[in-house]
Order: sequence, then structure tokens, then C-alpha cells
Amino acid sequence: MSVDDIFAATIEHYLAPIRPYLDDVAVSEVMINSANEIYIEKDGRLIRTEARFADDLTYASAINNILQFTGKTLSDDTPLIDARLPNGSRVHVAKAPCVRHGTVVTIRKFAKSMLDIDWLVELGTLTEQARQFLRLSVLNEQNILVAGGTSSGKTSLLNALSAYIPPGQRIVVIEDSAELQLQQDHVISLETRQADRFGRGAVSIRDLFRSSLRLRPDRIIIGEVRGGEALDMIQAMTSGHGGSMTTLHANSPADAMNRLETLALMSEVELPLHALRAQAASAIHLIVQMSRQIGGKRLVTAISEVEGRVGEDGRYVLRDMFALQRRESSEQMQLSWTGERSTHAGRLSDAAMASLSDLTRPIFA
Ligand SMILES: Nc1ncnc2c1ncn2[C@@H]1O[C@H](COP(=O)(O)OP(=O)(O)O)[C@@H](O)[C@H]1O
Ligand SMILES: [Mg+2]
Repeated sequence: MSVDDIFAATIEHYLAPIRPYLDDVAVSEVMINSANEIYIEKDGRLIRTEARFADDLTYASAINNILQFTGKTLSDDTPLIDARLPNGSRVHVAKAPCVRHGTVVTIRKFAKSMLDIDWLVELGTLTEQARQFLRLSVLNEQNILVAGGTSSGKTSLLNALSAYIPPGQRIVVIEDSAELQLQQDHVISLETRQADRFGRGAVSIRDLFRSSLRLRPDRIIIGEVRGGEALDMIQAMTSGHGGSMTTLHANSPADAMNRLETLALMSEVELPLHALRAQAASAIHLIVQMSRQIGGKRLVTAISEVEGRVGEDGRYVLRDMFALQRRESSEQMQLSWTGERSTHAGRLSDAAMASLSDLTRPIFA
């Protein structure tokens, strides 16, 4: 038996109370607040379960067991730990003093279906026409920002979109903790590192990004931009690294551009604001806005093109290609093409031209 097998077997044993949820593909997240308070997220809904660990001690040994295999120990010095289960699920453990009552464990599963864009269309997260438009945009090496609030499905959509990157391209993925699962063969995955307790050895997204440029990537995918790496990314995007994608925390496409700008300003590189804006405007081609609805449904609420220049008022010029519109004969809002032509019409690659359909041809006509 390999160490991995032993790990898998002991996990089975220790995590028995939540085993059914780990096996259920409809469950995307298991949240253990305490031995007898366990929630799951199923089909996008938060549900309190009947499951419980026998007692606090059993719960504590389950946690210790998970951590034992990761080589990390929970202590007052390291009260927050990220680990990975043998099946790839991500585990986050938080204890006192960061958590006031006991120890909290969340297990985020890689719900395979969430990575499949056809399934997202079926769930109503986006429409078939929008899916085809995004596919063409990825093929056409557009630089794409997926924007949205916490848990709005940004990472899942980014992952699903990555499937449209043609084979034969070298993809570098940069993340804080490995969430993305690209299907291509030629993928280099880089992960950040936290400093040890003496403050040494930290490797930031920014460090990884800079190093990635020397890895001869065709495309760079950053899991999420949160800091000064935004500037490096903008500059790489304007200097020939087309087809790059990332996610960003923002509430609207306009907010996404402003936020990107604010993050770029954190880079400690002196750059006049108008110059930064001009760069950002030409770097980002498309913003896909996501939102988590009440009840747990995730919706693409807008897809906007960013014009490659700054407007006369000194602000970004955004054009909604898709927006929520009320359907005829229904109260429901649906993502619909606004009728705007893509500014990238006439610049489609041969591959993209060849895959235009009746749904997408009018957008690029
Ligand atoms: N389109 C979707 N419909 C329903 N649930 C989704 C969808 N996309 C993601 N989820 C679920 O929402 C949670 C957060 O997804 P994630 O992509 O990590 O969001 P974000 O990156 O915005 O924080 C996960 O549990 C995931 O399985
Ligand atoms: Mg995310």
C-alpha cells in the first residue's frame, strides 16, 4: 500500500460521518462548524445536515488525521491551514485563536460538472449563445476578466472557459491554492507559498507571474488578481500575451476595470494614472460578470467589451454585448445579446471564422 492509499483509507474511516456528501457529485462543499453542526452546499443551496461526529474527540482526531498526511500541524502559531484530500478536494482548517468556538473545517470538492460549460448552460448560468460567443473569444485570444462577488462561480467559469484553449499551446497557470484543473496536456501550474514562521521563503503571485514570462507561455491564467500583480499582468497582456484570463472581485464590469486599476496602483511602480488607464483599456478585451442569486443560482449577468482606448472623459469605454433582459411572456430575466456588434469583427482567426454559427454570426457580422 502506498502512502496515498493509506491516507485514502484512513480518511474513509475518520470522515465516515460525512462520507455520503464527499461521494455525492451534487454536493460541492462540506462545512463542519463543530462535531454536531455540519452544513453542505448541494446544487448551489446551503443545507444543514443531520450528520455529526460522535463527539468532540472523534472530530479532533479526524482533523489530526487529515493534517498528519499533509505534514502540517495546527497550533496557536499556525491556526489556519490549507490541505488537500487524496481525491483532490481542498480542505481549510481554522482553529482558535482565529475561530472563537472550536475548530472549523471546510471541504471544497472539485465538483467535476462545474468545470463543464455545457452543464453551466444547463443550469441556466449562461445561455447557449453566450457560451458560443465566449468560446470564440477564447479561440480569438481575447484577454478575459471574470468578475463577480465571493462564491459567484468565477473560478468555475474560468476553468470551464479554459477548455476552449486550443491544444498545442503552452499554458502557465498561477494560483494561490491549486483550484483550476485544466484539461490540456501542456500546462505548467505554479502555486504561491506563504512565508515560514520566520518570515522567509514567501513566493507571491507577483513573483510567479514575473517568472512565468520567462517560461515561454502562449497563455497565462491567473486564478485571481488581488494585488500589484495586476500591473504586471496588464503590461504582459499589452505586449503580446494574448488570450490570458483571470478572475477579480467586482460587482459590475465598470467596477472591475476600476478595481483592476486600483490593484495595479498597489504595485509601487510610478506610472501616471492616464498612462495606466490607457494600458488597462488596451489590455483587457472582455469582462464576464457573474453573480450569486438568492437561492444559490449563479448567473452571468453581463458580458462587456472594453474598448482599446480611454474615452474623452478619461474613463473606460465599455459596451455590453450581453445583458440581462426580461423575457417576453415571463417575469424571468435572461442573459441576451444586446444587438451590439463585436469590435473584433473582421479580426477573427481562421479557426474562429470557421466555427461561427447562426447564433454568433450576427455578433461578428
Ligand atoms: N454556475 C454555477 N451554478 C451553481 N453552483 C456553482 C456554479 N459555479 C460554481 N458553483 C459553486 O459555487 C461555489 C463557488 O464557486 P467558485 O467558482 O469557486 O466561485 P468564486 O471563484 O467566485 O469564489 C462552489 O461550491 C461551486 O461548486
Ligand atoms: Mg475563485
